[in-house]
Amino acid sequence: MNPNKALWEKGDFTRIAATMRKSGEDLASRIGVARGMSVLDLGGGDGTTAIPLARTGANVTVIDIAANLVQAGNARAKDEGLPNCMFLEGDASHLSDVPDASFDVTLSIFGAMFAPRPFEVAKEMVRVTKPGGKIMMGNWIPGDPTLVAQLLKISSAYTPPPPEGFISPITWGVENHIIERFEQAGIPKENITFSREPWTFSAPFGPIEFVAVFRNFYGPTMNAFEAAEQSNRSAELQRELEELFTAQNKSGTSDQTVITATYLLVTVKR
Ligand SMILES: C[S@@+](CC[C@H](N)C(=O)[O-])C[C@H]1O[C@@H](n2cnc3c(N)ncnc32)[C@H](O)[C@@H]1O
Repeated sequence: MNPNKALWEKGDFTRIAATMRKSGEDLASRIGVARGMSVLDLGGGDGTTAIPLARTGANVTVIDIAANLVQAGNARAKDEGLPNCMFLEGDASHLSDVPDASFDVTLSIFGAMFAPRPFEVAKEMVRVTKPGGKIMMGNWIPGDPTLVAQLLKISSAYTPPPPEGFISPITWGVENHIIERFEQAGIPKENITFSREPWTFSAPFGPIEFVAVFRNFYGPTMNAFEAAEQSNRSAELQRELEELFTAQNKSGTSDQTVITATYLLVTVKR
């Protein structure tokens, strides 16, 4: 089994996505997507951004590697009566069934960053986007002090070193790497812009329960706990995460979670 696919099918990302609905709607409302446009959402999960984009009347295709999330996304689109939102299984680094220049906008919010072979990912995003169109990526930033960058950093300290040649997903949060990847795909540096943006997680339960959601349903955290158990360090990992989530919680109460994380929004003119 492809380890990248196994990682995301292992848990149930819909449990995390349920805490990001408002952030997805906010982003979808301000990226210039309008009725009739064709949009590709790579690694779109169960439709955090795709469903609100489809509500505008755009024709949205999600390609995601996890079969369970594709199924969940199609069920959400059906429930909402959105035949213009379609979820398909596929790999962002090899979009074999997608013809060149198919989409006005190619988007990937914390999705394609997790695909191996980042140079292939950039090449595929450029290939399937129409000349004059736009590519947008949301990527977590290494060294950033907010939730997800810290969660990924702590988790990696408990997991065995990756195989030789593995390129960390979080390198997609470094501007020079992004420029290099898109330049190799034929995009001049001047066509790439960056901004740092907030992304809020809101849950009707406290930060300790939110840690449990990650521990039980978020593939990278599940793997970190499995590895930590092997070395008898799972209590230590649990404590580190509880401290992180509690410190980041801005709800003002211990039975609600409101955590805002910072991400890098990348916009590429095709
Ligand atoms: C952190 S989740 C984000 C999901 C969604 N973009 C959202 O904001 O709710 C990462 C997503 O990327 C998908 N993914 C990981 N590797 C992928 C790949 N190689 N090709 C396509 N999707 C991938 C996962 O299955 C998962 O849905």
